[in-house]
Amino acid sequence: MVFARAYAHTNIALVKYWGKRAQGSAQERALNLPATGSLSLTLDRFGTDTSVTLDKDATEDRASLDGKALEGKERERISRFIDLVRADVGVETRVVVESRNDVPTAAGLASSASGFAALAVAASRAFGQNLDVTALSELARKGSGSAARSLIGGFARLERGERDDGHDCVAHAITTSPSLDLRLLVVRCAEGRKKVGSTVGMNSTMETSPYYRAWCETHASDLDTATSAIASGDFSAVGTTMEHSTLKMHASALAAQPGLWYFAPATVAVMTAVRDSREAGDVECYFTMDAGPHVKVLCRAEDAERLSERLAAIDGIFGIETAAAGPSPALLDREGTVLERL
Ligand code: PMV
Repeated sequence: MVFARAYAHTNIALVKYWGKRAQGSAQERALNLPATGSLSLTLDRFGTDTSVTLDKDATEDRASLDGKALEGKERERISRFIDLVRADVGVETRVVVESRNDVPTAAGLASSASGFAALAVAASRAFGQNLDVTALSELARKGSGSAARSLIGGFARLERGERDDGHDCVAHAITTSPSLDLRLLVVRCAEGRKKVGSTVGMNSTMETSPYYRAWCETHASDLDTATSAIASGDFSAVGTTMEHSTLKMHASALAAQPGLWYFAPATVAVMTAVRDSREAGDVECYFTMDAGPHVKVLCRAEDAERLSERLAAIDGIFGIETAAAGPSPALLDREGTVLERL
């Protein structure tokens, strides 16, 4: 195989990860092990379509995103990731990587999650590997922590793992009650790229925030509460745990030096509206946000349209998209037809 193309959907963490395990040596950094587990929902909207073509005559990798050539650090990050596959297979062949995002890149809408998940699938296949989902999740994690979860459709749990080699730090599907028919409204609260990327933000939180330890220490119980609530179909417990997790993550970041916040004015307005709606006994809904200003609001399927109309009336909103649970990645042919769902 000299060409492979894959599509992966993005995911949003309900129970976040924010911080890495040991990052002292180059080897530890390459493994990219999170300090905690995490739990997410893969979405049916937003994702990345990536082709990898081997080029035996080339002396360096080439990469493009949405038709624009990537250079510098962005290209290096992809090249380093492809090195992992090359090392595994024992070849040196350079590649051409072409990606298209239908996620606004680097704006806290988890484009790195679908990006590295699609790249893991396409690159391993292009080099002739036939990795299972667990091995692909491990590979994707080395590109971006959240990418490990995009290998799984629906609700996924990424285990922190204990092993130094990271083999047990992989995502898996969790038991989901069929009664849990949820929607996630992605409310865009600003335009353009985020100011502080997630790796820089979490490293600064780890190094300087007095609340980082508390964040880690209280994390496992959130993960277990959310896992059980998803299995039993307890939407209120899922939402309450989700909101608690994001607020703790952002509290730890706020207490970093310098303090780090991802909120735009509309971010706070949306979070307030979500709380107000719930407290007024109107629509039961819960918010979460990542390393960017957008708010993702979780609600029952039957409330999504009504809630979306309400939130759209808030000043400073750039658009709302409604997503449901989405599938695992797919391998595509050159024309984009699905060949295989992983
Ligand atoms: O996947 P990364 O390394 O870009 O980090 C993602 C961090 C958060 O989105 C804030 C949380 C998460 O678990 O997805």
